[in-house]
Amino acid sequence: MTAKDKLYIFDTTLRDGEQSPGASMTRDEKIRIAKMLEKMRVDIIEAGFAIASKGDFESIQAIAKAVKDSTICSLARAVPGDIERAAEAIKPANSGRIHTFIATSPIHMQYKLKMQPPQVLEQAVSAVKLARNHTDDVEFSLEDASRSEFDFMCKIIESVIDAGARTINLPDTVGYGEPEEYGAMFGRLINAIPNADKAIFSTHCHNDLGLAVANSLAAVMHGARQVECTINGLGERAGNAALEEIVMAVRTRQDMMPVETDLDATHIVPTSRLVSSITGFAVQPNKAIVGANAFAHESGIHQDGVLKHRETYEIMRAEDVGWNTNKLVLGKHSGRAAVKARFEALGITFDNPEALSAAFERFKDLADKKHEIFDEDLQALVSDVKPQS
Ligand code: KIV
Ligand code: ZN
Repeated sequence: MTAKDKLYIFDTTLRDGEQSPGASMTRDEKIRIAKMLEKMRVDIIEAGFAIASKGDFESIQAIAKAVKDSTICSLARAVPGDIERAAEAIKPANSGRIHTFIATSPIHMQYKLKMQPPQVLEQAVSAVKLARNHTDDVEFSLEDASRSEFDFMCKIIESVIDAGARTINLPDTVGYGEPEEYGAMFGRLINAIPNADKAIFSTHCHNDLGLAVANSLAAVMHGARQVECTINGLGERAGNAALEEIVMAVRTRQDMMPVETDLDATHIVPTSRLVSSITGFAVQPNKAIVGANAFAHESGIHQDGVLKHRETYEIMRAEDVGWNTNKLVLGKHSGRAAVKARFEALGITFDNPEALSAAFERFKDLADKKHEIFDEDLQALVSDVKPQS
């Protein structure tokens, strides 16, 4: 087996995630989440946007003091005031990063920045140089990269790497990219830029078309070695790529992935719950990895299969991402094997197959009237039958 590259996990729940309307968090809440991310061995935590508010600045500073094993990062526009404020906020960190950005797409340069490409290039280079006066760890993002012109991106990336940027992030800011095109963009840029080997290329995808995770993985297949993502996919508009999905896709499909992560995935579910309870953003039941139904089986055929061998219907283990166990939900689609197994787990066995059949028939009658059958329902079903226990 050939050695795999490390994929750096950059979590932006506390910055881009907080940009979800209604998801703002207090300083103490952010510290609690940051500590969980550290425990999970996230490589880089983007703790906020220091210039955005006094509260954001103080949160970044407090996280930089409290978290010692992950790199702590602040976002900054490519302007001196933002960079100085970001530098001040990350000062207490063991390892601190400044993440500076400017838009590079024609539509953003013309209408939002009202700047010509040469001015954008100059501002980007000055920002990176200024940030490098404060830390060796400088990330530069080409905002709206997926709608930017290739030749301009080549020029600006080569220049900011020369100026000292060590991570180059190519965001799909508006979630417009599609996997083949977005992935190929990384491959083409990495091949075309002469000093590309001096930087780590990073992906940052939004989920407007539901493609954020697919686009991030496509970028990884074409050379990206950092993924920016959030817990539960929280983020602007339709959200960002979900950390849990990226990490488990990389782990579950090691057969085809060129990378591996250092993440301790057993903290995924507790972290997801913490973020959900703090922000008040519920996780949909069918959400991959962290949804309540992600490891639940109701149909009889599936339950029978899982009871015989878990891998018949499970591609990863619930315990590996922090659930207690997988769950066989008893309902009207459940089969005899699952119902018998649950009775047995409750200490209830039957003298003969006919007794089990009678109990199973009662179960089916009840399941027609009730969404889910709980242990107490099963106990009640056989309370007047003499079970062998
Ligand atoms: O989506 C985006 O482009 C961003 C940048 C600031 C990195 O969040
Ligand atoms: Zn973003």
